[in-house]
Amino acid sequence: MREKPRASELLAWYDRHARDMPWRVPPGARKAGQRPDPYAVWLSEVMLQQTTVAAVRGYFHRFTLRWPTVSDLAAAQDTQVMAEWAGLGYYARARNLMKCARTVVAEHGGEFPDTREGLQALPGIGPYTASAIAAIAFGRPETVVDGNVERVMARLYDVATPLPTAKKELTQLADGITPDQRPGDYAQAVMDLGATICTPRNPACGICPWRAPCRARAAGTAPDLPLKLPK
Ligand code: ADE
Repeated sequence: MREKPRASELLAWYDRHARDMPWRVPPGARKAGQRPDPYAVWLSEVMLQQTTVAAVRGYFHRFTLRWPTVSDLAAAQDTQVMAEWAGLGYYARARNLMKCARTVVAEHGGEFPDTREGLQALPGIGPYTASAIAAIAFGRPETVVDGNVERVMARLYDVATPLPTAKKELTQLADGITPDQRPGDYAQAVMDLGATICTPRNPACGICPWRAPCRARAAGTAPDLPLKLPK
């Protein structure tokens, strides 16, 4: 039996190697326990839903310069927001963005709800985004599962069940590692690991902070996982 993977190993790696993103708190402030602005986390997560980090950066800067708070965004003209959104695609996201901003102002006094359930009741916020905001902005121990997290868990535990059948199992495995301390940093650390080391092809297992507990690395199956049923 290999040792159990620990969140602490990944958080130590994240403290040294976190990707710099404009919606994240800088490393020094993060160590002091500071969390990012819920508005920034929400906006970035909605923008990142079908778009890469590289493409989102510029849009995020322009939005937050023009509309620094959710109340500013709620008061904006739809046409102005749609014009700033142009190029990001999936325009239903922008329409939901406005609905959500106005609901936060009208029903929550301009403050985002601080639980997964409260967040998920807002327009355009599904289970993934609600968990991400609850963990990252509010420090709730919610498990955030995206494609990166599924791949990392499939490899850590050498799960041979194909996706999408394996989704529930992979979510439970991820849940078993989510820490009570720094759950938001932990969620983003798994995403960064999946984007930079535990990549779909040619994973860099030799420099992975979880190489010791990783069962797929031991079995030589990492590059083949997760298996996927043909669509
Ligand atoms: N993809 C979606 N949200 C992300 C985040 N907070 N950090 C890195 N990648 C992400």
